[in-house]
Amino acid sequence: MGIQITPSLLNADFAHLADEAARIPNADWLHMDVMDNHFVPNLTLGMPVIEALAKAAPQPIDAHLMIADPDRWAPAYAEAGAGSITFHVEAAAAPVRLAREIRAQGARASMALKPATPIEPYADLLPELDMVLVMTVEPGFGGQKFLDLCLPKIRRARELIAASGADVWLQVDGGVSLETIERCAQAGADVFVAGSAVFGADDPEAMVAALRDKAAAACAHG
Ligand code: DX5
Ligand code: ZN
Repeated sequence: MGIQITPSLLNADFAHLADEAARIPNADWLHMDVMDNHFVPNLTLGMPVIEALAKAAPQPIDAHLMIADPDRWAPAYAEAGAGSITFHVEAAAAPVRLAREIRAQGARASMALKPATPIEPYADLLPELDMVLVMTVEPGFGGQKFLDLCLPKIRRARELIAASGADVWLQVDGGVSLETIERCAQAGADVFVAGSAVFGADDPEAMVAALRDKAAAACAHG
């Protein structure tokens, strides 16, 4: 599939989400951060907002669920219109069953790992997944500093994906910017979430293009 850029709307203007999506026509996905104030200490948006934006925006929705009990809630996000649904493995009671339910609803199934969660225990699950998200900050807030300590895990995840033979995308989220995206791409990431870097830029569309170019160049040389 190659490099994909999925801007996070967490730092966009929540009063005008469809207009914000229209500012980034070159984005592959719209990354929507769902937080429930239980799994993370912040509260954002949920299914009704995703359902509304899925109808109003041309890009597909990449729903990142930072919520407790994703086993109960995640599959319904497919019906709300999300094309990709990411649950946190730390919160999931039965990740295999959950990934199968998400796929059965017609969405891509993705599993996220917080910075302190290792990938190795989940190597055998990779064929059940369409994407793995390696968080590069502690989830909960936009605008945090990128954690370089996550780079070895990105590398290991890429190796395990290659060994599995499954077609699994590898996403990074948190502190991704023009300054950090090359390191992520060189480590093996191919799907890049960027919130403050895109919506803090004067020209978000140009920033999406610049991020894509940097990641592609780093892949070519890495
Ligand atoms: C953080 C969210 C991110 C956040 C990224 O918990 O999952 O998607 O919006 O924002 P930046 O790119 O500013 O770190
Ligand atoms: Zn996110």
